[in-house]
Amino acid sequence: MLQTERHFFAPGRVNLIGDHTDYNGGLVFPAALNMGTYLTVKQNDDANLFRFISENDSAEFLIRKEELSLKRNSWVDYPLGVIKEFTDRGIPVSGLQFHYRGDLPIGAALSSSASIEMVTAVALNALNGSPFTMLELVQMAQHAENDFVGMNCGIMDQFASGFGKKDCAIALDCNMLEYEHVPLEMRGLKFVIANTNKKRGLVDSAYNQRRTECQQALETLRQHVEADNLCQYSPEQFGQLSVHLSGDILKRARHTVSEHARVKEAIVALENGDMARFGQLMNASHASLRDDYEVTCPELDFLAKWAQQFPGVLGSRMTGAGFGGCTVTLIAENQVDAFVGNVGTAYGQQFHIKADFYVAEIGDGAGDR
Ligand code: GLA
Repeated sequence: MLQTERHFFAPGRVNLIGDHTDYNGGLVFPAALNMGTYLTVKQNDDANLFRFISENDSAEFLIRKEELSLKRNSWVDYPLGVIKEFTDRGIPVSGLQFHYRGDLPIGAALSSSASIEMVTAVALNALNGSPFTMLELVQMAQHAENDFVGMNCGIMDQFASGFGKKDCAIALDCNMLEYEHVPLEMRGLKFVIANTNKKRGLVDSAYNQRRTECQQALETLRQHVEADNLCQYSPEQFGQLSVHLSGDILKRARHTVSEHARVKEAIVALENGDMARFGQLMNASHASLRDDYEVTCPELDFLAKWAQQFPGVLGSRMTGAGFGGCTVTLIAENQVDAFVGNVGTAYGQQFHIKADFYVAEIGDGAGDR
């Protein structure tokens, strides 16, 4: 029985490079932000009743225990999906009150959903004597999103939220689930996130469609050279095999293989302090997501292009799933204010929407706070 309130936090993430590679068995390079979701949990008097409140959404839910596994098509599906992961593994839950508060922009490709899932997962784990490892919690959170929410996401977001480390990026091999924390020695530079504030519609279905297209590409290529996933083909091998693909399927696979190679190179560049090269790879990543993967939009392209031409910028790209959301820009610290002012104004004039900017602060992963 939980007598007092307990407090937890799970961060969002910014992906520095490597998008749409995670579910293709490739490399990603995200970092946890110091923005995320805070959760206070306490016991309810009624052991059969669960209460879910969010300061970011007026919809509040009172749910009886026997109805916890019903989907509500609302933000509460993230915690409900995670609770189901626990009960499916024989961990009982009884009468809790969940109070959420987040400081991440919602639905802006900075993993607000994964942070709700992960904060719920670390809380339930702590309340039950920590039966699961962080990796298991990450996998349960991803499974909740795939199975309960219906978004067929890869593992990057939940992993970054769980395994974040202050001032480090995470070089994660999504096939082997091996990772390394790479210190972000910024050498007078900053990562600035620009939020298009564009309302994203139908992201889940477009995202799931990209996944299906990659699967189709893999099935075709496998008839020629066996592989477990698209990222196992080297760019050279893919160059030879690509004659067997065409149209959108070819483009999706070409992005995947080239993006995986870029992440590999970007990690080495960062480790060698070659920030100029890192920036070039970010630009190439954006172009590939725009032209081959086709997940950018005019707002993202505008922000990335403006940034890439701005003095002091080494590189800029969209981050996350795309279709809206944010860009991330590597820029000299002393140019940040000018960048925010100029690009913000130009964006406002073009789209009549106000962009928001955040200088990324890289923080630790999920846990109690
Ligand atoms: C979303 C998904 C991730 C990943 C990115 C694109 O954030 O949740 O698993 O696929 O898109 O890189």
